[in-house]
Formats: sequence, structure tokens, C-alpha cells
Amino acid sequence: MSPFLLTRTLPEDATGAALRGDVLHGLTRTPKSLPPKWFYDARGSELFEEITRLPEYYPTRAEREILADRAPEIAAATGAKTLVELGSGSSEKTRYLLDSLPDLQSYVPVDVSESALTGAAEALLAERPSLNVHALIADFTRGLALPGTPGPRLVAFLGGTIGNLLPGEREVFLRSVRTLLDPGDFLLLGTDLVKDEAVLVRAYDDAAGVTAEFNKNVLAVVARELGADVDPGDFDHVALWDRDNEWIEMRLRARSALTVKIPELNLVVPFEAGEELRTEVSAKFRQDGVRTELVAAGMELTHWWTDKEGRFALSLATAS
Ligand code: SAH
Ligand code: TRP
Repeated sequence: MSPFLLTRTLPEDATGAALRGDVLHGLTRTPKSLPPKWFYDARGSELFEEITRLPEYYPTRAEREILADRAPEIAAATGAKTLVELGSGSSEKTRYLLDSLPDLQSYVPVDVSESALTGAAEALLAERPSLNVHALIADFTRGLALPGTPGPRLVAFLGGTIGNLLPGEREVFLRSVRTLLDPGDFLLLGTDLVKDEAVLVRAYDDAAGVTAEFNKNVLAVVARELGADVDPGDFDHVALWDRDNEWIEMRLRARSALTVKIPELNLVVPFEAGEELRTEVSAKFRQDGVRTELVAAGMELTHWWTDKEGRFALSLATAS
């Protein structure tokens, strides 16, 4: 197997310093919250892969359908020589793009999860030994320095992960993506769409309880990394549809009054019985909203594709 390059733009101790800051900030404010990137340790990345195979979790299948149908059009429109992928995870759906881009030379997967990145890079290289893979361990919300691979570039951000950013964060993020695009480069953006509430809630509260375990995994990360005496079993998984904001909100609800001690932060966090901690939003989109957000960030929507049932969309955009 050919080797791949692995660049770490996060300090070795990223989990340490950044997690401490986020936990201190998130658990001392009202209402309590934690940022979603901490779900994805090795166990969290595994649980997410399990989520993508659940009968209730339609976004992965819907996006895969679009990619399978449209990869040749995407290839023709972009002529990409480098594919950059933000939040690449297992890179499983990415294969449709890798197989359709005739001039592709380099693949640059970017993720905070080192285990997901190395697993994906090894699997891809076993199948495609001539592909140049340059994996980046990086936080895509922090301004990216991309390797100097050949253009044109296609920057893919799949999975509806953009919906996990709050509106203000999304604005900042899209502007930073815009700075990565030279003339002739493209952004390929996956967004889950607004739909029937019951379908949405089921996708984030599955019968087998995998999403509940994924949600609680963030507490296991805090316990392990910061020595917090928190028991994930003391919390219930909550997924609800926020009609006004058009997002699914994931929360962890304390089953009884309890305190969480985090000696490393010199912190004691009291929870009332039933008190909820917000762990993630997953915003759902409409075409007009996507177009408007792209324009605000200096980009222009050139293509919009959905699956046959209209559940999920892929947008192609250029710098305007
Ligand atoms: N693209 C894949 C995985 C989506 S899950 C798919 O469509 O199935 C979201 C991925 O984004 C995870 O692999 C997670 O580790 C990564 N991620 C989440 N927040 C991130 C951040 N701030 N910077 C970089 N990667 C992030
Ligand atoms: N990007 C995924 C989404 O918003 C992440 C996700 C799926 C997720 N299920 C989850 C995050 C459950 C937290 C909890 O659909």
C-alpha cells in the first residue's frame, strides 16, 4: 500500500486545552451546552458510522443517491484535480467523486478525528494505490491552511455537517471557505432539508438507541479527558424539532439532581432534576436559505440537486 501524508494542524494536546476551555465555558453558562466536535473520539466516530446505517437515519442514503446519480455532472462542471473534504469521517460516500473525477490527482481529507482519518486513508489507498492522499487533522472552524496541491480544487462538505454549526458560526465558516476558493474552484455542500417533523425526530432518536449512545458519548469524553466524575447513565437523550429555527436540537437531560465534579478545572457543576444540556443542533435547510447564505459569503449557487424524495440537497457553488 502507498503511504499517505498526515499533517496535524491541531496541537497533540488539542483535546486537552481546547476541551478544557469549551467545557469551562459551556457548563458555567445558562442554559448549559457543549460544542459538537467533542462527540468524535474513536468511539464517537464508530457510533456515527453505525448511525449512518440505521433505518431511521435517511440523510446518508439520500446523499449517497445524489452522489451516485450526479458525480459525472459534478466532474464535468468542476474538472477538479484536487478534492478537499471537510469533516470527511470514513470518506465512504466520497468514493463516488473519487471514481468520477478523471483528472483527480490529490485527495485532502480534513477531520478532527485522527482514527477516522487514518482508517479512511488506509482503506482508500488499498483500493487506489496511485491516489495522492494528504490527510489533515484540523478543526475546520479555525481557518485552514491547505497543502499546495494542483487546482482546480473541489472543496466538499458532505453529510449535512454544516447544519451542526449555529447561524453565526455558519456565516464565519462560509466566509473562511470562500477564502480557500481561487477562480475556477468549487464548493460542494450537502444540506439536509426541512421535512415532516416525525421523520426528522426519528432520524435523531432511533429505536435501537444508537443516537442516544452517541449523544452520551460526549460525557464519556469529558470524563476520560478531564477526569470528570460524570456518569452518562445519569442522563437521558432528548431530540426535539425547533420549528422557529428549523433545527433538530439534541440535549442530555439529568435524570435527577446531581453534581459533576471536574477537579482539573476546579469546577463543580450542579444540575437540577430534569435540567438539560444542549449538545448539538442539526439545522435543516431550504434552497432559498442556502442560496442567500452562499451569496452573503461571496459565493454563487450554480447547481442544486436533490434525491428523488426531496429529502436532502447537494449544492455546487463558485466564488462570485
Ligand atoms: N462526511 C461524513 C461524516 C459526517 S460526521 C459523512 O457524510 O458521513 C461529521 C464529521 O465531521 C466527523 O467525522 C467529525 O469528526 C468531523 N468534525 C466535526 N466537527 C469538526 C471540526 N470542527 N473540524 C473538523 N472535523 C470536524
Ligand atoms: N452531521 C450529522 C447530522 O447532523 C451528525 C449527527 C447525526 C448527530 N446524528 C447525530 C450529532 C446525533 C449528534 C447526535 O445529521
